[in-house]
Amino acid sequence: MTQPLDEIKIGGLGASRKRVEDNRFIRGKGNYIDDILLPGMLHMEILRSPLAHARIKAIDTSRAWKIPGVHLVLTGEIMATRNLAWMPTLSYDTQAVLATDKVRFQGQEVACVIADDPYIAKDGCEAIDVEYEPLPVIVNPEQAVAEGAPLIRDDKENQADNVIYHWEVGDAEGTERAFAQADKISRLKLHYPRSHPSPIECCGSIADFNRATSKLTVYMTTQAPHIIRAAVALVAELPEHMIRIISPDIGGGFGNKVPVYPGYVCSILASILLERPVKWIEDKTGNLISTGFARDIYLDGEVALRNDGKILAVRMHCDADHGAFFSDAQPSKFKIGLLHSAFAAYDIPVGHITARGTYSNKAPGGVAYRCSFRVTEAMFFQERMIQAAAHDLGMDQAAFRRANFVADDQFPHRTPFGFLTDSGQYAKCLDVGLRAVGYEDFLKQQAEARARGRRLGIGISTMTEPLGAGNSREYDILGIKMFDSAELKIHMTGKALVRTGARTQGQGHETTWAQIVSHELGIPAEDVTVEEGDTDTAPFGMGTYASRSTPVAGAAVAMVARKIRAKARKLAAHLLEVSEEDVEWELGRFYVRSAPSRGVTIQECAIAAYSNMPDGMEPGLENTAYYDPPNLTWPFAVYIVTVEVDPESGVWDVLNMVAVDDCGVRINPMIVEGQIMGGLTEAYAMANMQFITFDSDGNCVGSNYMDYMLPTAWETPGFELHSEVVTPCPHHPIGAKGIGECAAVGGPAAFVNAVMDAISDTGVRNIDMPLLPDRVWEALTYRRDVSGAPPVRSDG
Ligand code: CDP
Repeated sequence: MTQPLDEIKIGGLGASRKRVEDNRFIRGKGNYIDDILLPGMLHMEILRSPLAHARIKAIDTSRAWKIPGVHLVLTGEIMATRNLAWMPTLSYDTQAVLATDKVRFQGQEVACVIADDPYIAKDGCEAIDVEYEPLPVIVNPEQAVAEGAPLIRDDKENQADNVIYHWEVGDAEGTERAFAQADKISRLKLHYPRSHPSPIECCGSIADFNRATSKLTVYMTTQAPHIIRAAVALVAELPEHMIRIISPDIGGGFGNKVPVYPGYVCSILASILLERPVKWIEDKTGNLISTGFARDIYLDGEVALRNDGKILAVRMHCDADHGAFFSDAQPSKFKIGLLHSAFAAYDIPVGHITARGTYSNKAPGGVAYRCSFRVTEAMFFQERMIQAAAHDLGMDQAAFRRANFVADDQFPHRTPFGFLTDSGQYAKCLDVGLRAVGYEDFLKQQAEARARGRRLGIGISTMTEPLGAGNSREYDILGIKMFDSAELKIHMTGKALVRTGARTQGQGHETTWAQIVSHELGIPAEDVTVEEGDTDTAPFGMGTYASRSTPVAGAAVAMVARKIRAKARKLAAHLLEVSEEDVEWELGRFYVRSAPSRGVTIQECAIAAYSNMPDGMEPGLENTAYYDPPNLTWPFAVYIVTVEVDPESGVWDVLNMVAVDDCGVRINPMIVEGQIMGGLTEAYAMANMQFITFDSDGNCVGSNYMDYMLPTAWETPGFELHSEVVTPCPHHPIGAKGIGECAAVGGPAAFVNAVMDAISDTGVRNIDMPLLPDRVWEALTYRRDVSGAPPVRSDG
């Protein structure tokens, strides 16, 4: 008898395998967009608008053309001759590629210069003279819908105001009835400010059009190469097989690298016109002021409560500021993303959400920054409202949550907004978190400290988050259904190659997809190579965002491995000279049921697929799977933070932070922990320090890393992570749920709730993020809320 394989030793499911991609990253051998040098390559720089709203009276490029080394100057007028001055967005709107009539936000692309090197191109931009006629500026939804507001999108026929959409979900009348019966109604108004994903590597592209073959190759920082190929095919009117999008190593994406940006389009047209490769690398300021922002959404929320702590209904109105163009990447059916996933963890009979999207003179926003389409806003609003409701009832915040959670035996559970949650152990996770933080002891310490004038606070955030769009019934982007794919080739030697339609940006797919193959086939993970990001080789997929990789592409990897195993079983029966029904499987090996010592390994089956197949069998051992998930996956998380607020300065320090994440089966526990730590760091940054807003002229305040801080290890508190609760996903082939964004989604409310708890005796209901010391000090000193729409409230 052979010894059964040890799954952890071969790097299968549950192994904390070191990330294989780090072999090249830590040696400085990553292959990022700016590392790529092509023969004859030119460089492109973009001239951006200094004004937020202005009519363009004239653009004079004559001085730029005269600079030696300048090959091309592109303006909106030239783009228009190719029908490329405007492009479609992923949300059925249009976006200016280079401005023709007006500029609509500060930092908007006005012209491009293509030159021998980036410095000459920059000089060329400075030599372009643009005459602007300033127009009145709108920087928030209130101004956008005010009487007499200037029309931002006067380019659009039938656009008479600045409203993009009205959207609603739920039961308005039922909610009204429930509110009429409430013992208490808890109300809260909040603003989730603009956030920027700020990947370390900015956006960029290298377009290389070959006139001889008519093939366009574009190296691009994209999280969704196939979607970009479809968009380029539409915009450039080239057939898809003549377009190759290659997404090389990506230095962080977080949603910033999903949309199509004007820089990509201009570099493509420049390459077509000049028949030379053209490289565009965005600088940090360009990235911060012009590429996809997230959030910027206002809540007016109410919770109907019974005195015993039961939530009877919720009602929310949200105003989303999308900036000058509606360019969010999100499922077409849901105008404000999955905002209606709010309160999915709670058993609430009825609810109603209304939402309105408006234009403003700000860079296009609404990208899903480490977030499944507005779920960060949903969970932040939910958990702030939950805490306020508990406070209004005079009830313990943990007990209030427990009293309203969906219970373990209530699954599958339909939320009042139509989602079907399918699994979870919410109360157990909360108990683990409360125990870990020492909840009861902390409450005593808090009371004692308060008596001595010290302000301690504890904040809780609990949530289940919908990860892994689609299913294709409900989710599509521009009509393309959301599913994903994996291709698996087993070579003759038993080594394997996996390709998926996803694209890692640091999450470690090269490591974890190999682990899934290892789990399914018993091939050691080190024998499995993973490739993603090249549309000429990878199967069609919708890309990586919204933590959809494991729920969808990861599931496809498991499914294609099962197809391979089914064929290998036939090969094994042939090799063992028994019928297929008599063959059993254990990790890495088929054996004869009646004689377990007679067996063949998966590697022996692989050789046979090329050298000793049964009659009539197609040679080779490779296959492709397209996976359309039956439902989203629903991980659950509990984040608990304790803080001390200094009343003299408004500075607050984190004393302790505990995270309990149930993301089902963990493929690689070490990578999962890395994902959670990264997400908590981003959550802390949003709650504590990241500040990006606009003055009344539409100037972007916070377009540098002094104002918009990225926390380093120095600023970041320690986190205590717990993994003991595991509720496998009932429909995912290996029971995994997504994890990539949970901590960034659920974390911010825990920090804010902790500070609000520390000052709960003051009557202050809200301080908008970021909770900068002066805001906390103002709230404490003047006993008033510190919130409101910038620039009405201007800290700049
Ligand atoms: O789509 P994205 O890769 O951003 O998010 P994800 O699917 O949640 O996965 C993030 C990373 O964690 C990937 O390397 C996953 O394979 C890994 N992961 C895991 O090991 N176990 C899980 N249950 C979920 C994710």
